[in-house]
Amino acid sequence: AKEPVRVLVTGAAGQIGYALVPMVARGIMLGADQPVILHMLDIPPAAEALNGVKMELVDAAFPLLKGVVATTDVVEACTGVSVAVMVGGFPRKEGMERKDVMSKNVSIYKAQASALEKYAAPNCKVLIVANPANTNALILKEFAPSIPEKNITCLTRLDHNRALGQISERLNVQVSDVKNVIIWGNHSSTQYPDVTHATVGDKPVPELVKDDAWLKGEFIATVQQRGAAIIKARKLSSALSAASSACDHIRDWVLGTPEGTWVSMGVYSDGSYNVPAGLIYSFPVTCSGGEWKIVQGLSIDEFSRAKLDATAAELTEEKALAYSCLS
Ligand code: NAI
Repeated sequence: AKEPVRVLVTGAAGQIGYALVPMVARGIMLGADQPVILHMLDIPPAAEALNGVKMELVDAAFPLLKGVVATTDVVEACTGVSVAVMVGGFPRKEGMERKDVMSKNVSIYKAQASALEKYAAPNCKVLIVANPANTNALILKEFAPSIPEKNITCLTRLDHNRALGQISERLNVQVSDVKNVIIWGNHSSTQYPDVTHATVGDKPVPELVKDDAWLKGEFIATVQQRGAAIIKARKLSSALSAASSACDHIRDWVLGTPEGTWVSMGVYSDGSYNVPAGLIYSFPVTCSGGEWKIVQGLSIDEFSRAKLDATAAELTEEKALAYSCLS
């Protein structure tokens, strides 16, 4: 039998946490033969709710779940974890300045970076979900210099999956038949959902859709604004789709992407596609042997180029704002 893997979920008493922890305990993230020990972190005001989630995990009698640590102590939470899913953060409240929200999250991610660096298992894989996801990931990377930068990623898989979903609805095909969409850039409304290289079967999506105006207009806007549309409908932000996509992200990273398929991940830019190096930026990647690699050599037309640059510019500005909060 396999040794259990310790998986950290921060913000575990929140809505995404509540959807995510049963998925992890059921083997959706790491595989149906991989036992897990869940580490759940939240802050003291949520301690009682967190304990309630722990009670439910016990009650659900998950065969793969070999232990649960529910804590408000970041050191206990980080100790020995091989996978860290960072969902906890400070939400923007009405009337708050962007800088104030950034400042709160910068201090959270700075502190959690140090704890992960000191106490997590070597080679721990980190996924940041909490917004601003790309910039939180960048701060975590900066303050955990001994964690290899390739181990620190942020979630844009939800946006990627949303793009697959929109194409499948439009073409009336199975979502599993739609492949190789790309989310470029920031997990924000400047992200660029790109179907230039996407296929259904072996046919290019643009040829099947035959409506360039829709692909360059409404499709992009729908994916970019989907988070807001869910909040409007549910009065709460997307949680089940975020949790499911976080499982997809880690599963593909650890177990590999299928031959001929890529996915989108926010990763540390090496300057590929002329994206400024040193940003956490969403790229198309393939994964194998537990490592991601940016897909190289895709053609970028003029329309796409402008979109890649616009979302990079936003991330550069966010990075500057985050750094101004540090001083
Ligand atoms: P939520 O407010 O229900 O839960 C957040 C939890 O984090 C709360 O329980 C809170 O007590 C906890 N928390 C706050 N500070 C913490 C800290 N320092 N350490 C540990 N826990 C802490 O929010 P929800 O809906 O679960 O969303 C979580 C985050 O995920 C938000 O930042 C949201 O914007 C982001 N998000 C990102 C998506 C993506 O695709 N990247 C998609 C959807 C949401």
